[in-house]
Amino acid sequence: MTSARLRPLVAGNWKMNGNKMSARVFAAIIQGYDSALRAKVELLVCPPATLAVTFGVVAVGSGVAIGGQDCHAAASGAHTGDVAAEQLADAGATYVIVGHSERRADHGETDAIVQAKALAARRALLTPVVCVGETRAERESGNALDVVRTQLAGSLPETADGGDLVVAYEPVWAIGTGLTPTPSQVGEVHAAIRAFLVDRYGDAGKAIRILYGGSVKPGNAFDLLSVSDVDGALVGGASLEATDFLGIAEYYR
Ligand code: PGA
Repeated sequence: MTSARLRPLVAGNWKMNGNKMSARVFAAIIQGYDSALRAKVELLVCPPATLAVTFGVVAVGSGVAIGGQDCHAAASGAHTGDVAAEQLADAGATYVIVGHSERRADHGETDAIVQAKALAARRALLTPVVCVGETRAERESGNALDVVRTQLAGSLPETADGGDLVVAYEPVWAIGTGLTPTPSQVGEVHAAIRAFLVDRYGDAGKAIRILYGGSVKPGNAFDLLSVSDVDGALVGGASLEATDFLGIAEYYR
């Protein structure tokens, strides 16, 4: 099953990095996103929540989408320190990452919590980018596919029409380590995710983009992004520099 017809998405996850000065990096990303690139690939930047409004204003008309890195399942209320999907939408976001492995590990987020957040994103008309991926131990014990399928089963909404959901496969052991799976390992997992999506959503499952994430850099973008059923990338460290982030997107030019 190939999904080459899907419009690819290159998404930057800034994590807890950046301040007001980072608007310069964001402006450079916008500047480099010329009409030729824009015709080939969608760009998304997920800054820390403190910068979402600023970036949202700068992004108007640029074609670069803004996203959150997490959201609460509720629309408002007594949840100190949390951000609602509705608030991200109000800031100009159109996407939100949910279930990133750092949230799952640092904040004890279960598949059920991630699913509730994905539904909250939809309620606010944001597209959730739902992250899944195995740990090193799970891969070494041969359980990577089972782990990913279990996460998908518990974390994804029950319904999808295609464009209202993005899945990101991010092996935990590849995040921030400089290590990446081989193209054939990526292909095996992405094919399994595609099969899961088609099984769950029917034809709509063919229209859901599946991103690869974990140590994506300009230098390995070709190897990773040319794999079947890889419809883009979720980029951490390399999204903090405009040249690196754009260098990854260049694969699609
Ligand atoms: P990395 O992070 O590109 O720095 O490995 C990816 C991610 O966590 O989304």
